[in-house]
Amino acid sequence: MSKQLKEYPRVTAQDLRHRTQRPRRVKMLTREFIDDSLYNPNYGYFTKHATIFNAGQPFDFPRIKDGAEFNRLVDRSYIEFEDALDELDPDETRQLWHTPTELFRPYYGEAIARYLVTNYKMTLFPYHDLIIYEMGAGNGTLMRNILDYIYEHEPEVYSRTQFKIIEISSPLADLQLTSLGRSPYAVEHMDHVQILHRSIFDWTEYIHSPCFFLALEVIDNFAHDCLRYDPETETPLQGSVLIDADGEFFEFYDRNIDPLAARYLRVRELAARSQFNTPVNQYPKFMRRLRHALPLAPNLTQPEYIPTRSLQFFDILTTYFPAHRLVLSDFNYLPPSDTVPGLNAPVVQTRYQRRNVQVKTPFVHQGYFDIFFPTDFAMMEDVYRAVTGKLTRVTGHGAFLQSWADLRSTECWNGENPMCSWYANASVMTTV
Ligand SMILES: C[S@@+](CC[C@H](N)C(=O)[O-])C[C@H]1O[C@@H](n2cnc3c(N)ncnc32)[C@H](O)[C@@H]1O
Repeated sequence: MSKQLKEYPRVTAQDLRHRTQRPRRVKMLTREFIDDSLYNPNYGYFTKHATIFNAGQPFDFPRIKDGAEFNRLVDRSYIEFEDALDELDPDETRQLWHTPTELFRPYYGEAIARYLVTNYKMTLFPYHDLIIYEMGAGNGTLMRNILDYIYEHEPEVYSRTQFKIIEISSPLADLQLTSLGRSPYAVEHMDHVQILHRSIFDWTEYIHSPCFFLALEVIDNFAHDCLRYDPETETPLQGSVLIDADGEFFEFYDRNIDPLAARYLRVRELAARSQFNTPVNQYPKFMRRLRHALPLAPNLTQPEYIPTRSLQFFDILTTYFPAHRLVLSDFNYLPPSDTVPGLNAPVVQTRYQRRNVQVKTPFVHQGYFDIFFPTDFAMMEDVYRAVTGKLTRVTGHGAFLQSWADLRSTECWNGENPMCSWYANASVMTTV
């Protein structure tokens, strides 16, 4: 490959934005490849295949016997939802997400609303309006549930509330407006809402007012870089992919680390409050030596995926939203049996004949696969604090809801509470 490696130009996802065909005869950093696969406006996954599950009517929890019956009801509504999609287009490949916002609506949104209003009243009321930005609003359900709650329970705050969505997907931005139209208070809400169709990474407006910034189930799709280490010298090498004239992918590693990945490594080294894992320190030296002494052993360690786009997201928050307070939730863990190999590695999956099919590399046909990462919340907290200078709190999904939700509304007959027990692998980080 050495001739192609030398001759093919290095391109970024930004360079490929206006292309309608997937690139060939190029090389790209892993994060640029992932970004292009997910977000290219013509063939990217978000442009074409993103559908978020909506169960029709909200679940009536007090009438559900127990957690097992709730599982069965979710499975049934999932099938019905997909049947309806198949009627529209039976050949579409799609990815279906379910999020706590959708499964536990309106109660999950109400819990977030309670958190926002309480904190607003404690620190900002009456000097400032309640300004809420939501990045990546999916079906728009959270916005609707939050506004309905504030309208019904906090009229004084409602009159001072502004809700602004920042949404990359144009079909979802349209859907968000439609979904708001279904609220009984749609006419009132219209004066309080703005839907901005753009990526957070294209944001350039300075927002000086204090605001809350919601990012629920969004950063798992933010692209990561891939590193492998030289087991002897322990120096990192950065992963790229070469796409040849036939569209085949070849992964390769380079000793030159690009400025963004290098900055991430520096920030994490300086900011980390505790020892963190890398493929180098994960195993004692003698075990690494042993592994690399074996015949046909790879000459680099296992990959490690580092959240370089999240670092850029924090740069945007601190530059353009200096007075923000973040509410971010996402997966803190993904089962290694589902992910590609490596530390902090993503799940790369598509849905085929109603089954989720996982593959073992991110270098697959661009736009057909969802690629999502777990978040190391302890590390993210350190990096966020270092970049923004703000303090944070991390809680488990269930513990956050115990504090802010009206738990009676989501309790089954037998006392089980699926809103707290589902998503056990999710956490919430808030600015304090
Ligand atoms: C998994 S959905 C979550 C939706 C919603 N927050 C929920 O919890 O139901 C991810 C959302 O983030 C949006 N998104 C992804 N990347 C984005 C970006 N860079 N800027 C703005 N929105 C983005 C997607 O289009 C989608 O609406």
